[in-house]
Amino acid sequence: MIVQTIGIVGCGQMGAGIAEICALSSYEVIVYGRNEDVQPVCRGRVKQSLDRAVSRGKLSAHDADAAIGRVSGTAYLARLAAADLVIEAVAEDLALKQSLFRSLDDVLRPEAILATNTSSLSVTELAIATRRPDRVLGMHFFNPVPVMRLLELVRGLHTSDETLAFARKVGAYLGKTTITAPDTPGFIVNRLLIPYVVEAIAAYEAGLGSVEIMDSSVKLGMGHPLGPLALADLIGLDTTLAIADVLYEAYADARFKAPPLLRRMVAVGWLGRKVGRGFYDYRRS
Ligand code: 3HC
Repeated sequence: MIVQTIGIVGCGQMGAGIAEICALSSYEVIVYGRNEDVQPVCRGRVKQSLDRAVSRGKLSAHDADAAIGRVSGTAYLARLAAADLVIEAVAEDLALKQSLFRSLDDVLRPEAILATNTSSLSVTELAIATRRPDRVLGMHFFNPVPVMRLLELVRGLHTSDETLAFARKVGAYLGKTTITAPDTPGFIVNRLLIPYVVEAIAAYEAGLGSVEIMDSSVKLGMGHPLGPLALADLIGLDTTLAIADVLYEAYADARFKAPPLLRRMVAVGWLGRKVGRGFYDYRRS
């Protein structure tokens, strides 16, 4: 199947990042968002990131302009009917995603592929909300999408070989290295990542060291580009909590149990970089 148009559902940090790399790879991109201002908001986010790439010498201004020209936003789900592939990137809420998948199934052509960027929810449970479960899979991107090289493909119980092969080709075209994971909670990457981040938050809460000490220990001692608390801020503390809760419920294993501090920070709206406040205060920088 030849892909010309990719639909993206959601224009948060992941949706905007996915829209950016799709547009850079010459796909026409239609981003669906609930609000009427989705077009300026989404284009603004994509443009900001493209400008950063231009200022770092990664991209020409001409290619950045061409990419932004391929991105449009809509508050009408029916406009995604033009898409050959739709990638959903909304909040980690199973009921919300299922309801979207039901509506998308009605709108899309029967042969179109439906992907979810979920970090932890069951692809199979989303697939069965549609009449095309063989053409549903997980395409799990990493934040920041333009920079991180991995794309984790998740095979639900119904996902066909053709759908997986299709997603591998699109992933390669987007410049990503793909791996295929089974549809188990957390797939591969978050099964490894979440216990580490959860333990760092619990250790910080227990008074092991300051935010800076926790993070520098990992950066300087283990060579990671970011420490675990800065990473939680980047992922979003709400997303980190949602993934931890799904994994804890699935495995009943204390390694995944969200520390009380994480829950409290989410309750007061300290969600990390995207709101300017998390373990660090980004409003001052
Ligand atoms: N487009 C293209 N390239 C860009 C770019 C953009 N918009 N913005 C930055 N870059 C490039 C820079 O040019 C630079 O490349 P270079 O090393 O070749 O010069 C590189 O990206 C790093 O950028 P910066 O120097 O500006 O920034 P930092 O050195 O501070 O790195 C970071 C920022 C890339 C975010 C780095 O801290 C990092 O790799 N962090 C780890 C992030 C991570 O682990 N993400 C995964 C989160 S888990 C997840 O998403 C899954 C979910 O389910 C939870």
